[in-house]
Amino acid sequence: MEIKTTDHRLMELIQLAKTVAQSKATILIQGESGTGKELMAKLIHESSTRNAKPFIAINCAAIPENLLESELFGYEKGAFTGAMNAKAGKFELAHGGTLLLDEISEMDIRLQAKLLRVIQEGEVDRIGGRKPIAVDVRIIATTNQKLADVVKADQFREDLYFRLNVVNLTIPALRDRGGDVEALAKQFGKDFADKNGKVFQGFSESAIRIIQGYSWPGNVRELENVIERAVITSQAGIISDRDIVIDRPSFHNLSDKMEMLSSSQAGWNPGQTLDKIEKSVILDALKYHNGNRTHTAKALGISIRTLRNKLADYRRDGLKV
Ligand SMILES: Nc1ncnc2c1ncn2[C@@H]1O[C@H](COP(=O)(O)OP(=O)(O)OP(=O)(O)O)[C@@H](O)[C@H]1O
Ligand SMILES: [Mg+2]
Repeated sequence: MEIKTTDHRLMELIQLAKTVAQSKATILIQGESGTGKELMAKLIHESSTRNAKPFIAINCAAIPENLLESELFGYEKGAFTGAMNAKAGKFELAHGGTLLLDEISEMDIRLQAKLLRVIQEGEVDRIGGRKPIAVDVRIIATTNQKLADVVKADQFREDLYFRLNVVNLTIPALRDRGGDVEALAKQFGKDFADKNGKVFQGFSESAIRIIQGYSWPGNVRELENVIERAVITSQAGIISDRDIVIDRPSFHNLSDKMEMLSSSQAGWNPGQTLDKIEKSVILDALKYHNGNRTHTAKALGISIRTLRNKLADYRRDGLKV
């Protein structure tokens, strides 16, 4: 598994990850869903001297609190009803290796205290255990929230935050990675074509426009899924706009949206000036692209400078854009 990118910021981040991999420092990886946080964690493990030892991942959001506690720290026989045998926790299993705590922001505040102790002391207490067990584990935590904000909201211990945030790697969203959308789309096109015994030559112009214009809230995972499907329905090696299906309940396909914009909203009603119509189209497009000016300008076929000037005009009229 390789982190593919053409974005310089992400390349530098990968370089930094490889460097810090050599230390035992705890690492916090932040980034939106699907940006490649787990991939990054695996890269760190693989690049470290711990790579012959286990890489263990646990998702703090997916497991109920009491179960998460016994999964992480283990338990002794008879520690609670149903504990027929002793069981080692993930910390012990990851001994010598790396433990990935996925979605750390979702960890219950009480468990956070216990986790902090393990990090500070380098030993775990099994539930019902009599003596602590020494563990040597590199911890990597991920979150798709800004953990500092969760601390501010009193949902996350500040002391634990500082312990985890020794090294911070924040992976940029796909939409902010310049040429990555197109480069990764092409790469996935090739990969999935190979896998499915199909040929891949490229994208039609309109397909590229849709890919470029979309904001990819699900990031690389979403792009990967969309391209996989597109490869399967593509004909003669070309992925066309019809093959690009963006499957989000709250999103229309961009082509539908464009059609909507051009047919219904751009129609004239009495009292409307061209300026007003333009303004409503621009604001709609901006909203559609989550406020991203680069994508909005591109989708509307105007320069960013023009867009900025128009938004500045609207601001002068008291609008918050
Ligand atoms: N730069 C990349 N190059 C190739 N594949 C990538 C890249 N980034 C992510 N992927 C792929 O996208 C998918 C999602 O990546 P990953 O699971 O690492 O994301 P994540 O940030 O952990 O997401 P989540 O927050 O939803 O857990 C995986 O299939 C992964 O292989
Ligand atoms: Mg993940």
